[in-house]
Amino acid sequence: MNKYEELAKELHQQIRDGQFKVNMKLPSVRQLCDRHKLSMSTVVRALEVLEQDGVIEGRERSGFYISAANIQSSVPIPEASYILEQPTKINNQELILGLMKSIYNPKLLNLGAAIPAQSFLPVKDIDKASRIAMRSTQHQRDKYMPMPGDRVLREQISVYMRNLNCEVDPEHIMVTSGCQEATMLVLLSCFEKGSTIAVETPTYPGFLQTCELLNLEVIEIPTDPRTGVSIGALELAIQQWSIAGLLLSSNYSNPTCARMPTDKKKTLLDLCDRHSIRIVEDDVYGDISHDPYYRPRPIKSFDKNDTVIYCSSFSKTVSPGLRVGWVVNPTLQKNIEYSKYVAGLSCVTTSQYIMAEYLKLGKHERYLQSARRRYGMQSNLMLERMYELLPEGTRITQPRGGFTLWLSLPSHIDTLELLEKTMAKGVCFNPGVLFSALNKHRNCLRLSCAMEWNENLESALGVLAKESHKLM
Ligand SMILES: Cc1ncc(COP(=O)(O)O)c(C=O)c1O
Repeated sequence: MNKYEELAKELHQQIRDGQFKVNMKLPSVRQLCDRHKLSMSTVVRALEVLEQDGVIEGRERSGFYISAANIQSSVPIPEASYILEQPTKINNQELILGLMKSIYNPKLLNLGAAIPAQSFLPVKDIDKASRIAMRSTQHQRDKYMPMPGDRVLREQISVYMRNLNCEVDPEHIMVTSGCQEATMLVLLSCFEKGSTIAVETPTYPGFLQTCELLNLEVIEIPTDPRTGVSIGALELAIQQWSIAGLLLSSNYSNPTCARMPTDKKKTLLDLCDRHSIRIVEDDVYGDISHDPYYRPRPIKSFDKNDTVIYCSSFSKTVSPGLRVGWVVNPTLQKNIEYSKYVAGLSCVTTSQYIMAEYLKLGKHERYLQSARRRYGMQSNLMLERMYELLPEGTRITQPRGGFTLWLSLPSHIDTLELLEKTMAKGVCFNPGVLFSALNKHRNCLRLSCAMEWNENLESALGVLAKESHKLM
């Protein structure tokens, strides 16, 4: 271990031990140099590591402070999955789609959809941007938009990417209809039918459905609910099977909200580089840390060989309805563009103009800071409430970003059965089997924390709790 890593580890331990409390200022760089007899560059590097990992946060002209993300809850978190099973063709998605449709029934209160309530979105600024866009693009907006998309929007996305430590030429940004389409086009264009794609388990159901549609096999890699996919398990899988791609969200993945630490991201990238495995990185939740000033870097920001195909969208932060997403990978862009052209000719022109105007307002970062605070508070509230209400033995993730909670109920509770019972009372959620191609996670479920906290929500949580107690 390098000196800076040793110092980062020691400081992190002191923070965990409570020697430094949340929001307390760390000693200055100079004081740390004196105290630990280390050079300035070593101390600065150690602080960078801690900042990257969200343990501390730098405040302009003031120094480093202990991040709110260090608050520990006494709620037990779900255990990591350890079993590595072989690649599989997905075949339970029909059942799942039926379930999804019923979940969108307006007569049901859906506790599980990972869709922000409108009050979490910058509605006034979107309206303002729409008005400007409608006026200024009168002569262009009723036309097809050629690929790779509106130049002004791509320039704005390029600035956004620079803030994530990714230098991307606007020419290398291809606009898509949301992130779902971005990953779909990437999987379609960059992998042969029958290839094996590694995913986390549990994973976002959209990944499984897309792989099924494209005749790709998936291998589910055991995953830690805090730090993401297990590198050891992935190495083992690579030794046994030919894996073409790894499809994951390294920042606040859905449903566990795991965030991969920086060093793990680098190790993972190195492993995939060595084995020519393409990483398809879905970063839709990357902006939603619960620390107002912290944004974790994507794996793409460490990528020197174009191994990573970066996909994202503004659906979780600005507007799911505008359907504006994008893909970055200069090497494969032509293939992806061709698939997009065949599938839908172009992206919705008006949405691109509106999103470009919204970003030009220059208020996005400020909005994100307040949204992050709110998501953090709401996640904590939901976590504590569910732990209070649900049967003993329930484990719940303690996210530091994103807006979903992953709950594991006592092992004999089947959440599909539970769903049947709650649906009869007008309440639904996302049962654990949706998140695996192998019908795993039967005692688990996902809840969303991006809903208005009101009486209806409270009573729906009560129904969920009551029905789970009945199954004990
Ligand atoms: C991990 C992940 N990727 C992509 C999407 C879909 O994004 P979009 O609405 O931009 O297509 C979701 C939506 O829940 C998601 O959870």
